[in-house]
Amino acid sequence: MENIFGYDPVEYDFSGKCLRIIDQTLLPLKESFVCIYNEEDLIDAIKTLKVRGAPAIGIAAAIGVAVVMDNYEAKDMISFQMEFQNVMKRVLKSRPTAVNLGNALQRLSGLLSESLSGNTTIPDLKKILLEEALKIKDEDIDANISMAHNALTLLRDGATILTYCNAGHLAVSRYGTALSPIYLAQQKGMRLKVYACETRPLLQGARLTTYELTKAGIDVTLVCDNMVASLMACGKIDAVVTGCDRIALNGDTANKIGTLTLSVCAKHYGIPHYVIGPETTIDKECEDGSGIVIEQRPSYEVTTMWYKQRLAPENLSVFNPAFDVTPSHLIEAIITENGIYRYPYNFK
Ligand code: MRU
Repeated sequence: MENIFGYDPVEYDFSGKCLRIIDQTLLPLKESFVCIYNEEDLIDAIKTLKVRGAPAIGIAAAIGVAVVMDNYEAKDMISFQMEFQNVMKRVLKSRPTAVNLGNALQRLSGLLSESLSGNTTIPDLKKILLEEALKIKDEDIDANISMAHNALTLLRDGATILTYCNAGHLAVSRYGTALSPIYLAQQKGMRLKVYACETRPLLQGARLTTYELTKAGIDVTLVCDNMVASLMACGKIDAVVTGCDRIALNGDTANKIGTLTLSVCAKHYGIPHYVIGPETTIDKECEDGSGIVIEQRPSYEVTTMWYKQRLAPENLSVFNPAFDVTPSHLIEAIITENGIYRYPYNFK
């Protein structure tokens, strides 16, 4: 598949020896790249959504932690290992819902423990961590290509798709999850039309999905989140396609707050809801959606952030969960790099 964007949203900068990300908070107005060298900036970038989207968070955390450890001057192997564990614990806390973050860091941790014996030196450990982080990214690129091919078998030429939040190039290593079949379709000469939901309160759909799709020359129309039922009722939508932040063993799926609304409406109107995500998004420890921790975000994102002046009264109580859980029976299919799964799901 061709990378029509000309950049990767998350990468290791070999000359600067840093984690380099595109600052997603400045899009679509400015394509600005940030170099990250230390733990504080890494955690800030994840918390403030400079880097966001479940797979991108995992890759950024892995490369970022490898960079932080490369800059750590350890007196011996034990102190290197202890510092790694401490950094990992703090980075893990930056966002709780996307399982890719924990999966990527656990993978580095496991490899580090295995590598401690024998004649391994601290420079060897630093190299091992970075190489593994880059491998996580490469595997994600391959997974996205396979997901694109698998998901495209479900979409016909001329179809109209409704998507939510941003599960595209910006949210992963390259190409996207939910948007990857759309890019593949375009490269094959198929015509797909997309409706992108704004995705309140942080507007990932309005700012990021429309930016990406427009840049790629794909036919995209922006709608407010509360217009989806009406769109479906008019017969304008053939499929709802979203990404995912964590999939439980029974297929219950956490994704951006509001995905549940789309899924319920889609079921009502007989429209399939397809969830596309890599196998790294499946949480092998989580039986069902009730076990998924939902991140709560600050109230100013709802009341203040996007307005010239404060929108709502001061001291108002605000409910601002970042994700919701769609029960698996509403999901027509879950598509990963390994294939297409149908209800009832069993990822054990
Ligand atoms: O809060 P965000 O912007 O990180 O939320 C992102 C989403 O909900 C995406 O749909 C999900 O991470 C899948 S990205 C391929």
